[in-house]
Amino acid sequence: MGNVIAVASGKGGTGKTSFCANVAVSLCALGEKVLVIDADSGLRSLDLVLGMTDRLLFSYGDVIRGDATLKEAAAPHPVAGNLRVLTAPGEPGVAESFPPEQIAELVARVRAHFTFTLIDCAAGLGRDVLSFAAAADRAVVVSTSDYTALRGAQSTAGVLERVGQETCSIVVNRLRPGMIRAGSAANIDRAMDSAGLSLLGVVPEDEDVIACGNSGSILALEHYGPAAQAYMNIAKRLRGQRVRLLDQVPGHWGEA
Ligand SMILES: Nc1ncnc2c1ncn2[C@@H]1O[C@H](COP(=O)(O)OP(=O)(O)OP(=O)(O)O)[C@@H](O)[C@H]1O
Ligand SMILES: [Mg+2]
Repeated sequence: MGNVIAVASGKGGTGKTSFCANVAVSLCALGEKVLVIDADSGLRSLDLVLGMTDRLLFSYGDVIRGDATLKEAAAPHPVAGNLRVLTAPGEPGVAESFPPEQIAELVARVRAHFTFTLIDCAAGLGRDVLSFAAAADRAVVVSTSDYTALRGAQSTAGVLERVGQETCSIVVNRLRPGMIRAGSAANIDRAMDSAGLSLLGVVPEDEDVIACGNSGSILALEHYGPAAQAYMNIAKRLRGQRVRLLDQVPGHWGEA
């Protein structure tokens, strides 16, 4: 049982936290029992995006050290049934102090309790990111369609492979059809070629993502615009359902 997914990126700010929050809620809506782990210690933000800043008393560091049980630390979301959130240690540097074996043991424990676990990693390739990615069942690299971000995604996937994570796909976020049509942003085929990864999904640029992230309200619960629909389609694909890529957004995404 369990499907543990590490969500990583080369460059920062590509949309990992927004992805984790919204795909987690979408998976819950599909009946899954979901845990999201904020693994961005020191710079954690999942609690803000999920509107749970005052509810997370213990971190995964407390669970590893035995200062809290997994049940105590993984706090239930106030609105999304079946969603629990396990936050990162707040102090910078603490997460890097845990050896990979302890992270792997934590991941094995959560795998037994949840049907899906999404791990919101820090940008880049820090020691804790590599430990979580190596212990996960698969990785998803979130990138924008900028070539610089895509190159970062490709490098990230290469390093993840070297630590033993060979199942890696890409989500292209903040895609703007107008720019693609004008030839000034990578189209989907070129994005996949640039990153050298299989495509899990595309998420369009949608200002509702920003508005919801700022207010701690969840897009996937409150709106059904293009990004919310894209996150839901990705959740369905993660469950093995076939959902056509181009069904999710109006316009001709692939045409440059
Ligand atoms: N599809 C989207 N459309 C519009 N804005 C988006 C979209 N996805 C993410 N954003 C915005 O981009 C910013 C960065 O997103 P987010 O925090 O999810 O990225 P991140 O990869 O987790 O960043 P970091 O590397 O700092 O952890 C946020 O303001 C968020 O609201
Ligand atoms: Mg983040």
